[in-house]
Amino acid sequence: MYIVLKMTLTTLLFSLLVYAEDTAKLFGKNCAMCHDESSTIAPSPEVVAVAVKAKYPAKEKFTNFSLDFMLDPKEEKSVFGKAAIENYGLMISQKDVLPEETLKALIEYLYDNYGK
Ligand code: HEC
Repeated sequence: MYIVLKMTLTTLLFSLLVYAEDTAKLFGKNCAMCHDESSTIAPSPEVVAVAVKAKYPAKEKFTNFSLDFMLDPKEEKSVFGKAAIENYGLMISQKDVLPEETLKALIEYLYDNYGK
């Protein structure tokens, strides 16, 4: 019994680690071409997380706002406002790029790793 439980826990822990690593890779592949530390195309992940957290500090609100924005970006929704959008342009919709579940995981990755 004990050994089965231990194996289950090990497997679970391992999948969580793999999941976290996958999300980091996914962010690198799908978001970092714009949201890179040294990017001039879009604000860095740190700047994005700080700006969204300033308005939506709770994780659930942060996630809901970001998901809605990513599916349907609009200037009036953006936490950055007009000046930033004139500078960077509006983010393109990720609606047909990635499934909603993946977008959600990427937003949570942003929340958990940046803007602390
Ligand atoms: C083609 C470039 C591009 C890609 C790819 C991109 N973004 Fe963005 N993103 C932007 C720009 C530019 C802004 C800031 C201007 C704005 O508000 O639209 C932004 C803003 C944001 C915001 C803040 C919302 C707000 O109010 O402005 C979040 C959150 C975000 N991006 C997350 C992501 C995630 C997660 C990914 C990967 C799935 C991603 N972005 C992919 C260009 C991009």
